[in-house]
Amino acid sequence: MDKIVIHGGKRLKGEVRISGAKNSALPLLFATLLAAGEHHLENVPALRDIATAEKLLTILGADVDRHEATFSIDASNIRSVEAPYDLVRTMRASVLVLGPLLARLGQARVSLPGGCAIGARPINLHLKGLEAMGARIDLDHGYVEARAKRLHGANIYFDVPTVGGTENLLMAASLARGTTVLENAACEPEIVDLATALTCMGARIEGAGTDRIVIEGVDELQPLRHTVMPDRIEAGTFMVAAAMTRGDVRLHGARHADLEALISKLQEAGVEIAEEDHALRVQGPRRIASVDIKTQPHPGFPTDMQAQFMALMSIADGTSVITESVFENRFMHVCELQRLGADISIDGKMAKVRGVKGLLGAPVMATDLRASASLVLAGLAAENTTEVARIYHLDRGYERLEEKFRTLGAHIERKKA
Ligand code: UD1
Repeated sequence: MDKIVIHGGKRLKGEVRISGAKNSALPLLFATLLAAGEHHLENVPALRDIATAEKLLTILGADVDRHEATFSIDASNIRSVEAPYDLVRTMRASVLVLGPLLARLGQARVSLPGGCAIGARPINLHLKGLEAMGARIDLDHGYVEARAKRLHGANIYFDVPTVGGTENLLMAASLARGTTVLENAACEPEIVDLATALTCMGARIEGAGTDRIVIEGVDELQPLRHTVMPDRIEAGTFMVAAAMTRGDVRLHGARHADLEALISKLQEAGVEIAEEDHALRVQGPRRIASVDIKTQPHPGFPTDMQAQFMALMSIADGTSVITESVFENRFMHVCELQRLGADISIDGKMAKVRGVKGLLGAPVMATDLRASASLVLAGLAAENTTEVARIYHLDRGYERLEEKFRTLGAHIERKKA
């Protein structure tokens, strides 16, 4: 299996372009199931999760044509309504075909995702919402079977704000009869991106980006034509890399408005961040101040940046407390950071990080996407050599990661096994 080898300690300097957002591109790709005709999606990142989504669309009967970052998709002739276990298992976001298939074709059969490295992650709220819209939901041999002649509008309250649940119901409600109100909806920028694209397709949506979204269903939607928003988590990961290496990095395409919680915490830690024309300039401090964070749904601190921020705090002056309140079991990177010399203890949802003077390279491996990113960051700041194994996690969500770090002066390479 491939690994990433990093000779750490280099100051990162230069410019990189932020890719299209994985978490926006995935629901947008599945939104093409809502309408016949040829859809065009630009700025789609080249990632393993995107390849999985492409495979799923093809299995369902869509014609998918990719030219660099542009996808043309024709979903006129859907042959199957089943998202098989093998694909859902490798990518949970496959469950996002449920809403579109049910709304357009009246049925869907989607494997239950099961557990994953960062906790149980159920889809009960997706299902409850679709039931409220008139769907009949049955469980059969590990599959969710959903049927509805035509979905109808409903008032839906989410017990917790769920990104995927909000996206699934947003897509389903766009083609339902009548009005749907989503209360306590997720407010993530990716929801706004999806709602913008759906609106261009003819959907009537108000309130995306707030916790109350109102959708007036329509009978038919037009093909989508949209450019995927920049990846705020990729941008955040590069920001932390600059912070950890006393770097000076310009991130083209990174949007301040999507990153406010992270930016304010980085500034508290002493990092200088300046907004420039379509870019953010990030300069790491001589000494990093320790800062407490608590992950929360947007606009709170993103759980997808928790592991990377912990790597930063592991070399800060003093002690910081990191609280993970979105997912249980999302501290798997801790043991690996400890192998690099970090001083971290965990008590339930809280990690206490006592900053050390420096990290020392070692072989490490990761269990999920953002955990892997935190280990690469730690390796960039560590003395000597760090080898990160199981990098297929990184390939799910970071486009040309080592190449981008190399353009910033890092000594990082992929070694084929
Ligand atoms: C999305 C992101 C993921 C990010 C997460 C939280 C994508 C493809 N993935 O995942 O990168 O870490 O948002 O920002 O966009 N929950 C329930 N029942 C449900 C659904 C969710 O209890 O039916 C709980 C989850 O267990 C979790 C919380 O709600 O504790 C938030 O999960 P959710 O927002 O749904 O995450 P995803 O959409 O899976």
